[in-house]
Amino acid sequence: MSILKVARLGNPVLRRVAENLPPDQLSSPLLQKLIDDMIDTMREYDGVGLAAVQVHEPKQVAVLEVADNPRYPQKARVPLSVLINPKITPVSEEMEEDWEGCLSVTELRGKVPRYKSIRVQALARDGKELDFVASGFHARVIQHEWDHLNGKVFLDRMSDLSTLTHLQEFARYWAEK
Ligand code: NI
Repeated sequence: MSILKVARLGNPVLRRVAENLPPDQLSSPLLQKLIDDMIDTMREYDGVGLAAVQVHEPKQVAVLEVADNPRYPQKARVPLSVLINPKITPVSEEMEEDWEGCLSVTELRGKVPRYKSIRVQALARDGKELDFVASGFHARVIQHEWDHLNGKVFLDRMSDLSTLTHLQEFARYWAEK
């Protein structure tokens, strides 16, 4: 297992649009190792998701998992999943705002509007086709990672920056009691 270095805001790799992976490359041991290392890296830093661009690999791969996360307590669990070449379609135009942070935007958190419910089409790490509807925090995490794969970070999606807060001030003034 390897913990990978996470690119921080300002690194141009975060602004690149990641390349689609041809399905016949999914079985490559290098790609499978990258996925394993991304999972280890996400868990090491208490992330709920990680996109390959964040570990300097501009490929359409994201991992996510929500399980007793100290950075996001009280959020519904999401089992470990790997999304390759994901496409998302809003199920309705309904949006909601909630707090987001990012391992590439350290020490900051802000409120971001996201679609409440989305259809997700992607490949799993074994090449199986996935097609499901995600809602709530699950949908939020997928939209956040999908943005990374398209060169965007959550700051770009904030309707304004007035809720942007450092983590210490978040805990002091804004955390759900
Ligand atoms: Ni992020």
